[in-house]
Amino acid sequence: MKYFIITGATGDLAITKLYPALAEIFAYNKYISDTHFLGAGRKDLSQEEYQQLVHNSLSQFEGEKDFIKDLQYIKIDFDKVETINNFFIRYNIQAGDEIILYMAIPPQAFDSVINTLAKIKNSHPDIVYKLVFEKPFGSDLQSAQALNQKASQHFREEEIYRVDHYLGKETIQNILALRFGNSMFEPLLNNHYVESISIDVWEERGIDKRADYFDKTGIIKDILQNHILQTLALIAMEAPVTMEAEYIRDEKHKLIKSLRAIQNKDVILGQYISSEDKVGYLQEDGVDSNSKTETYVQLTAYIDNLRWEGVPIYISTGKRLSETKAEVRITFKPRFKYFSHIDEGCNPQKNELVISIQPNEEVYYTVNAKFPGKGMCIQPVKLNFTYEESFGQKSQGAYTKLIQDILDADQSLFIRADEIEAAWNYVDILIQADNIKNRKLIHYKAGTEDYKIMNNPDE
Ligand code: BG6
Repeated sequence: MKYFIITGATGDLAITKLYPALAEIFAYNKYISDTHFLGAGRKDLSQEEYQQLVHNSLSQFEGEKDFIKDLQYIKIDFDKVETINNFFIRYNIQAGDEIILYMAIPPQAFDSVINTLAKIKNSHPDIVYKLVFEKPFGSDLQSAQALNQKASQHFREEEIYRVDHYLGKETIQNILALRFGNSMFEPLLNNHYVESISIDVWEERGIDKRADYFDKTGIIKDILQNHILQTLALIAMEAPVTMEAEYIRDEKHKLIKSLRAIQNKDVILGQYISSEDKVGYLQEDGVDSNSKTETYVQLTAYIDNLRWEGVPIYISTGKRLSETKAEVRITFKPRFKYFSHIDEGCNPQKNELVISIQPNEEVYYTVNAKFPGKGMCIQPVKLNFTYEESFGQKSQGAYTKLIQDILDADQSLFIRADEIEAAWNYVDILIQADNIKNRKLIHYKAGTEDYKIMNNPDE
């Protein structure tokens, strides 16, 4: 039997992401017969109270909620081995059973959970353990190394799942299919043909009620270090030996290690200020009024390898921007010299391959085509594929995919220890205390397009 235990069962992550994912999983009906799904926490909650809480939390959720009756709550204090022992007795855990611990808890609590579970593992070595870490995994290179070291003292890498939910998104996984399942893109993805790559993760939303987390974190650690670097790794890495987890992770790791060290002149950091209808970052509830936390980062990255030498990678991400979108845009070098005599009004553009992650799940390619009629007037047209049109359905949620992969012990979409350290190493220069103290932030008005024209004060 498998026991999928969510610690932090009443927390924000469980409520906004994990329960909707469980609802989808129950709808597929695949894992139900051999898996118990449980919420765990220190609170005293009856089954009814817990199920009611999950039910209320899913009030906006449109899917089937019938699964809630199969969810169980257990009171476990992860500082106390006895409470876990009680759980073993109550559920009659046997050799060969599997305990999956999804840590939807603040990172400060990771250490004590690891310690306690390590003791349990010592006394019950014949159980299969899986430890799932939610982001943030560490807060800089040093703390990530320490956490990796701590976890690896007791658990093998095959037992550790580091979540980056972006990797669970269909559009992100599709990058591998697009690149390595087709012959027409891969030969062009190098510095002979590609002029630049841009990766934008823009959000209209602000920090919601997460000031406590965000003010200590900032957008570099919140999005650049993980979602963006993982996306970049998939876009730019070499072909893995096979599509197995270790080979994919080898290549992602290699790619992140090949990133050229960041220089301050390549980076713009911003913080939003109030606009007509939105408060500024410093006025958000819970934010330190002198905070130097960045809510926007723009960066030009370079990959120092033979394939990508000299190709700029423009990255930008931030909160309270004018639109919400996550997109990768590969711009190819222009080839219109044969059409240099083009008539006025004709407007050929550079070819672009665009992978839109959200809000539209779409891949498109722009090519120049002849406009109908006399003469040779060429104009860009779009060749595209959307998930909904091609497959007749929207893709499943990222967490649904990730939870299924954890149950199936497939680590392809989870970040390995060396990858996460390489990613922290890359951004570390930007997040050192001295650097933060002396940083120059550019201010942009919340919800406006200000950020699109920001200049670096260090230039
Ligand atoms: C999370 C960040 O990892 O990703 C949030 O902590 C961010 O700040 C979120 O809003 C974006 O993910 P998604 O899937 O909602 O685009």
